[in-house]
Amino acid sequence: MDTRIAPSLLACDFTRFAEEVAGVQAAGADWLHLDVMDGHFVPNLTFGPPLIAALRPLTKLPFDVHLMIERPEQSLAQYAQAGADHLTVHLEACPHIHRTLMQIRELGKRAGVSLNPGTPVAALQHVLPLCDQVLIMSVNPGFGGQSFLPAMLQKVGELARLKQELGLVFDIVLDGGVAPKTIAAAAAAGVEVFVAGSAIFGKPDLAHAIGVLRHHAKEGPNAKQ
Ligand code: DX5
Ligand code: ZN
Repeated sequence: MDTRIAPSLLACDFTRFAEEVAGVQAAGADWLHLDVMDGHFVPNLTFGPPLIAALRPLTKLPFDVHLMIERPEQSLAQYAQAGADHLTVHLEACPHIHRTLMQIRELGKRAGVSLNPGTPVAALQHVLPLCDQVLIMSVNPGFGGQSFLPAMLQKVGELARLKQELGLVFDIVLDGGVAPKTIAAAAAAGVEVFVAGSAIFGKPDLAHAIGVLRHHAKEGPNAKQ
C-alpha cells in the first residue's frame, strides 16, 4: 500500500483548529493524528475528548488518537465516544496490554500500541496479533519539533521482519521528527504510515509539504525537491 501521511495537530495553530483540519484534509492527508497528553505519562498537557468531539463533524478523515496518558484503559470509551477511529496506547502505560487491546477492539476501534525509544520490539511480540497498528516513537514523546532518533529505524526493521514472519497485517507507524530528510530511510526500513507535525503545519503550503514528504518517501534519500 502507498505511504500514508498523518498530520499531527500538535503543531497546528491552536487558535484555528477548524481551518487547520480543513487545510490538511484538502492537502491530501490520509489520517488526522491527535496527540493526547496528560502531564503525567509525558511532561506536557494537550487536550482530551471534548476537543476531539468538537472536531469530529468537520472531517471524514480517520481520527488517529495517540494516548500519551497513564491508565488509558479508564478512558478508552470516552475517546471512542468522542469520535476516535484508532486508539493507540503506550505499552509503558499498560501493565495489562492484552486486555487493553481487546477493550479497544470491543469498542469497534482500531487498536494501536506505541513504543517509547527505550522499549524493545520484543516486549510486544506476543500481543502483535491483537494490534491493528504499531507506532514506533522516533523521539521521546511529549513535544513536537524534536530531532529524529535514527537508531529507532532498527526497531522498525525488526518489527517489519516479525510482521512478515508471523503473517500479520498491522500498520507500521512512525512518529517524531519525520521530515523530508528522515523519511526516505524510514520508508526503506518498513514504515507505512508517517505522523508529521512541524514538517507539515510549520509550512506555508500544506499540500506542498505533504507532497514533498510523499515524494521523499518514494524516491529515497537522493530525491530532488
Ligand atoms: C510527540 C507526538 C508527535 C508530535 C510529532 O510526542 O507524539 O505526534 O506531534 O511532532 P514532530 O513531527 O514535529 O516531531
Ligand atoms: Zn503522536
